[in-house]
Amino acid sequence: MEITVSRKAHFNAAHRLNVPEWTEQENEEYFGLCNNANYHGHNYDLIVAVAGQIDPISGYLIDMKWLGKIIKTEIENRFDHKNLNLDCVEFKEINPTCENIAIVIWNKIREQLPENLKLKITLYETERNFVEYNGN
Ligand code: NI
Repeated sequence: MEITVSRKAHFNAAHRLNVPEWTEQENEEYFGLCNNANYHGHNYDLIVAVAGQIDPISGYLIDMKWLGKIIKTEIENRFDHKNLNLDCVEFKEINPTCENIAIVIWNKIREQLPENLKLKITLYETERNFVEYNGN
């Protein structure tokens, strides 16, 4: 019997989407407002979903206090109120798209989680646009 528990989190961050190999015009056409040279912000909503078997003794799948601390330490402290392009080494070489941010977040949380638990990340960049990643 597999069960999933989820925790929501939130961070604000600035970014700029740009491919250095493309011309200014190509970047502007492709990325639109997200290509703005002086950056812009998003309010990112994050859902961290963990799945697996309940511990028969405690009745927990995972201690949510512990998961909350991991999200705070690994994600919020690292990315909240940051310029992802300039402040975060994770995005020195890769474009900070919602897709890439979700993968970075998944990798950071995955490292901390017990191996027997599955992990899925849902990251909202806007109310309408979101990305899901489960490591596959
Ligand atoms: Ni943007």
